[in-house]
Amino acid sequence: MLHITAEDLAQCETGLLAIPVCEDANLSRNPVVVKLIDRAMSYPEFKGGVGDELMLYDAEGVSASRVLFIGVGKKEKADPDSFRTAAGKAVKRAIQSRQREIVFCGCGKKAFVHAMMEGALLGNHLFDFYKQDREKKPLSKITVHVESSRQDAFAQAVSGIEAVCRGTIMARDWVSAPPNDKRPDMFARSIVKAADMENLTIVDIDERNIRKNKLNALLAVGAGSDTRPRMVVIDYRPDKYDKTIALVGKGVTFDSGGLNLKPGSGITDMKQDMAGAAAVAATLITAARMEIGHRIIGILPLVENMPSGNAYRPGDIIRTASGKTVEIANTDAEGRMILADAIFYAVKQYNPDTLIDVATLTGACKMALGNKFAGVFSFDARLAARLVSSGKKTHERCWAMPMPEDYRDMLKSDIADIRNVGKSRWGGAIAAALFLSEFVQDVNWAHIDIAGPAFSDKADAYCPSGGTGFGVRLLIDWLGGL
Ligand code: BES
Ligand code: ZN
Ligand code: ZN
Repeated sequence: MLHITAEDLAQCETGLLAIPVCEDANLSRNPVVVKLIDRAMSYPEFKGGVGDELMLYDAEGVSASRVLFIGVGKKEKADPDSFRTAAGKAVKRAIQSRQREIVFCGCGKKAFVHAMMEGALLGNHLFDFYKQDREKKPLSKITVHVESSRQDAFAQAVSGIEAVCRGTIMARDWVSAPPNDKRPDMFARSIVKAADMENLTIVDIDERNIRKNKLNALLAVGAGSDTRPRMVVIDYRPDKYDKTIALVGKGVTFDSGGLNLKPGSGITDMKQDMAGAAAVAATLITAARMEIGHRIIGILPLVENMPSGNAYRPGDIIRTASGKTVEIANTDAEGRMILADAIFYAVKQYNPDTLIDVATLTGACKMALGNKFAGVFSFDARLAARLVSSGKKTHERCWAMPMPEDYRDMLKSDIADIRNVGKSRWGGAIAAALFLSEFVQDVNWAHIDIAGPAFSDKADAYCPSGGTGFGVRLLIDWLGGL
């Protein structure tokens, strides 16, 4: 799919040659490219500014039939994501022009070239499984042209970049899938099928074993649905490792709110509520493909939150797997219930060095940070900082949120050990994180609330509308740095 070449650009036979262009500097010393950019800059509509695009047909000096110039703005301000974005846009233009392949010109710095490769692969993803008429076809070959002295180094990076992009796309497809096609049993089967092809051990825990393990919070949330809850455990265990990491992902395949039914448009996109589980499953599969050197265990509680005569009720008190009792103040705060049991189970069974949970947990987090940032909650400032730093690198951005002990009062219940919803509606994302912390015991832990960035109702440069696959690139980068 992704190829590196150092052949003479002038001779390169391609339908579309894409050249990223800075407004105020040369990214490439290649004389063929320099000449082409001079030509492009002679048109008043193209200055190399962010968003500028110019297509030349049958340009002089190259065999390529089209040359596309994409502006990335001023060199000082350009970062890896400028190149991810430029590459995604170029691939979209190539697809529109009914091309099956594209050649990119290198753009200097290693991080820029890597980002360009990522943007191209991610931008080549279409979610068209449910369309009869698939007029757009993804490209089948993406080539990046680099200086011959750097060809080997870039070629070595290809398989890792391909793996992480495949993982992101896998997560996106799961999230974008309609909720009638991913009820807990179906989603479990789909995960097992995808993971089966890799070096992973999978346990699909059914309702009987969920009961045996006393995962009563998971059972309570699933009680209203005709499809029984599941818990899938994926274990990646390389021959040699010293750290054990547990990743827990919220897998609510549809969140109607339950008896506290979500009003109005709030319910519309709630197929996305399993994005944490999708990101964790795809991360495990990617980690196995990349042969990451840590043991990683993915724990995925899968459930549908529906109203019915059997549904759990506001006012119910549930005895969770940990023994702690929870008073249900709102059945729409179901994610923290299933995570409470899954986190407790993960710690009890695997005693990990670090546990991270990923969840579309609260509208409050989306309200606070918008749809481009996830909230990171941890008592360990170093762990939070590392996740924030991986977020900067991958552009899956995270913001460290506070965990104030005195806010715990919000969760006090008069008749049970704890309530599932704070007494005040303010600080809802923090209240949810503090709720989870009650089930973590002494393990080093971070919670990532992806309610904002997991799903997008409009396409951007390298992601179609729907699931974004947020979390896969972030977690793989974090795991790689451990
Ligand atoms: N799945 C939602 C959170 C959510 C909101 C995810 C928007 C993605 C986009 C979660 O289960 C939920 O309903 N949370 C409630 C909690 C409230 C009842 C305390 C919320 O955020 O309103
Ligand atoms: Zn909910
Ligand atoms: Zn939910």
